[in-house]
Amino acid sequence: MKIAKILPLIIFIIFLNTQFFLASSTQTQTHNIASFGARPDSQTDSSKAFLAAWNSACASPAQSTIMVPQGKFMVRTAIKFSGSGCRSSGINFVIRGSILAPSDFRVLGSSSTWFEFESVDGVTISGGVFDGQGMGLWTCKRSGKGGCPPGVTTLGFTNSMNIIIDGVTSLNSQLYHLVINGCKNVKVQGVKVSASGASPNTDGIHVQLSTDVTILSSNIGTGDDCISIGAGTTNLWMEDISCGPGHGISIGSLGKELKEPGVQNVTVKTATFTNTENGVRIKSWGRPSDGFVRNVLFQHLTMVNAQNPIIIDQKYCPDHKGCPGQVSGVRITDVTYHDIQGSSATPIAMNFDCSAEYHCANIKLVDVQLTYSNRRPASSSCTNVKGLALGIVEPKSCL
Ligand SMILES: *[C@@H]1O[C@H](CO)[C@@H](O)[C@H](O)[C@H]1NC(C)=O
Repeated sequence: MKIAKILPLIIFIIFLNTQFFLASSTQTQTHNIASFGARPDSQTDSSKAFLAAWNSACASPAQSTIMVPQGKFMVRTAIKFSGSGCRSSGINFVIRGSILAPSDFRVLGSSSTWFEFESVDGVTISGGVFDGQGMGLWTCKRSGKGGCPPGVTTLGFTNSMNIIIDGVTSLNSQLYHLVINGCKNVKVQGVKVSASGASPNTDGIHVQLSTDVTILSSNIGTGDDCISIGAGTTNLWMEDISCGPGHGISIGSLGKELKEPGVQNVTVKTATFTNTENGVRIKSWGRPSDGFVRNVLFQHLTMVNAQNPIIIDQKYCPDHKGCPGQVSGVRITDVTYHDIQGSSATPIAMNFDCSAEYHCANIKLVDVQLTYSNRRPASSSCTNVKGLALGIVEPKSCL
């Protein structure tokens, strides 16, 4: 055979070998927490096993899976998964079982976050149940006797990027369920949050100082905001959300600080609010600030007996303390409410109570139909707000 004839074949074989080599060097490594000493017996503290699995995954540049098998794993200490010094190109937690926090809130004590990811890039959490067992702390807080710690957030991501949280269930957190703080490119999907409607400060998902966050197809029932949006949030997309019980989806509280980054480009599309305190709320402190909210779209929302389906409240000042002059510095502009239907549990279905110094501007109502308790007509209330109404708007717009 002439060399010219077999040359393509030789090249092809070399090519195949290179492909094989590349494939094997980027193959996923699996680290099962059971092989690091974790026990699915609801008792044995598996904290060290989680950290050991993380360190082992971080030791190699490969993609890694950290496997949490079926069963109940007790985690009695707050764990910090740090990205600094982590060589892995991506770590995927595959969780088949449940992770339990100690029911005695004194054990986690004054820690801030139970599962905390800091400065990580490319972490995915798939499936699993995080059970915060927060009832003891809620009872302590509700007793009003004091002496209770603030509690821990169940799952937190700080200064991180390229994060996916998929199909995770968070139950009965002591404090917030999931916090996304200082992050870029985060996708939350198919998440379920569940806690009592009477549990204090158990926000479902809190986002702040973060860009390009998407929250899809999630079902949130809790004692505080289903989703709360803090200062410095940009390009946040929420779609197919079911909220209730809870305090609704809230931008704010903003403007507590004199200098504060604004919130912009936020979309809530296709969401249902059932027996919630609010539907969609924008809330700021009645005090000076350079904060702002702009380019917000609330679209295709259904209200089922929500107390305040549409609300802007710029006079927030708990206990009337620390709000000189009671005027908010937060500028709210370009907010559109499009296709909002259903029922309000109170007579005022739309309430715009804006800053006397910086009136809300370019607020749009398009096809909004809200009744009071299904049958009676509701009303709307406007203070310091400019905007327009298009299509059918009931109750009659006060803009
Ligand atoms: C607004 O955010 C969405 C994602 O939520 C993004 O696709 C879009 O490009 C952003 N728009 C601007 C003007 O940045």
